[in-house]
Parts: sequence; C-alpha cells; structure tokens
Amino acid sequence: MKIAVLGTGMVGRALAARLSGLGHDVTIGTRDPRATLARTEPDGMGNPPFQTWAAAHPDVALAPLGEAAAGAELVVNATNGSGALSALEQAGADHLADKVLIDTSNPLDFSQGFPPTLFVKDTDSLGEQIQRAFPQTRVVKTLNTLNADLMVDPAALGAESSVFVSGDDPAAKATVTELLESFGHTDVIDLGDISTARGTEMLLPMWLRLMGALGTAAFNFRIVR
Ligand SMILES: NC(=O)c1ccc[n+]([C@@H]2O[C@H](COP(=O)([O-])OP(=O)(O)OC[C@H]3O[C@@H](n4cnc5c(N)ncnc54)[C@H](OP(=O)(O)O)[C@@H]3O)[C@@H](O)[C@H]2O)c1
Repeated sequence: MKIAVLGTGMVGRALAARLSGLGHDVTIGTRDPRATLARTEPDGMGNPPFQTWAAAHPDVALAPLGEAAAGAELVVNATNGSGALSALEQAGADHLADKVLIDTSNPLDFSQGFPPTLFVKDTDSLGEQIQRAFPQTRVVKTLNTLNADLMVDPAALGAESSVFVSGDDPAAKATVTELLESFGHTDVIDLGDISTARGTEMLLPMWLRLMGALGTAAFNFRIVR
C-alpha cells in the first residue's frame, strides 16, 4: 500500500521503518524537507537528526506534507499534538478526502513544564477535532497509548498487551486493525466511535506517571478480562 507518514519524530520514523520493512511504499511528510534534512543536532529528547535516520532508510522518501498525502492511499498523523491540525491543513483536505487517517497524536501541553497537561479533554478530544476539521476523512485514533518502539514491535515486551482503535467508520477500523496485527499486536480493542478517543487521550497522564515510576517507557497497558 502507498502510505504517507506525516511526522519526522520518533513515531514517524518508527512507523515508516516498520511499514517499509513490511513492503509498503512509504513517504514521510514534513513541512520543509530541505530544513528537515539540514538539521545536524539531536532533538530535545536526544534523538539523532533526521538526516542520520534517512541515510539508514533509503527506501523511505521524504516530501512536503501535501505531496506526501496526495500520493498516498492511507495517511498516518504522527505530528506533535499542538501542530496536528495545522500539519493536516498543510497536507490538504483534498488530499485526505476519503482516505483512512491513522491518528497517533496526543493533545499534550508542555507550556507549564513537565508533566504536561491536556489541551483538550473530558468533553472533546484531538481525534474528534481532527475528524470535525476533515469530515471527508476516515479518522482512526490508535497507538497513542504506548511508546514509538512498542507501537511497531509489541512482541519486544515478551507478553501480550493491548491497543485501542476509535473511529466512526467500521471499514477504516478494520483496515487499521489489519495493519496493527501485521506489526504483531494481538489484542486490538475497538472502543467505538471517534469520541472514545477521549478515553485513550486521557490515559496519557497515567502513562506519563507510570513512566516516571517505572523509569522506562518500555511498558504497555494490558486489559485483562
Ligand atoms: N514519542 C512517542 O513515543 C509517542 C507515543 C505515543 C504518541 N505519541 C504522539 O505522536 C505524535 C508524534 O510524536 P513524536 O515524539 O514522534 O514527535 P513530536 O516531536 O511530538 O512531533 C514531531 C513532528 O511534529 C511536527 N510539528 C511540530 N510542530 C508543528 C506545527 N506547529 N505545525 C505542523 N507540524 C508540526 C514536526 O514537523 P516537521 O517535520 O515539519 O518539523 C514533526 O514532524 C505526538 O502527537 C505524540 O504526542 C508519541
């Protein structure tokens, strides 16, 4: 499948590498490819610059957001939550229309320091905001409740764990579930329509405190029933 992964951070890189390794034709979208490739310093989290990653992944193309989305059958939003709506506008509503959009973003607000708060919660969610802004697009919220490495390789934990899908379109959720299973996810829980993204986005305050308590991001939720 031709897939656009919008986002050059840890999530975009992990998903692009995994999807490409599974045989998909992957293009990463960024606001300004030249600027993205020109960065030479590690990011704020100490991750190597994108050019280092790109050199190790020659099968993954890099393009402006609109070009990446235009050529794709399925699009992934792996942009920062605060910039997600803007990034998707730059990708273009026409280029997203009728397509499945996997939304991995979280509405984290770091403006008051760490731990971040949520800039939308309880009565709305970023997933819903995206779905409202792009009504022709079939948004599926998923993978926002575990770290980037585990998103694409859950077996690395050595135990079964759970991920969630939220979206209004059952066929889109089926397509996304198939992709998740191709990554190795064995317990994909369909929470319901896109408003259920409130639940997974509001797991983030818990996820962040678990990371603090455990001293690692290498963990996931497991729903025992
Ligand atoms: N890191 C994780 O393990 C993890 C786990 C679960 C969910 N998430 C969520 O996944 C998303 C991606 O996370 P990440 O850690 O990979 O990277 P990130 O640093 O949160 O986001 C990087 C991407 O966001 C884009 N971006 C930032 N500000 C923007 C703005 N104002 N307008 C348009 N685009 C903007 C950047 O675009 P350029 O390429 O143009 O610079 C870049 O591609 C986030 O929403 C995060 O909350 C992350």
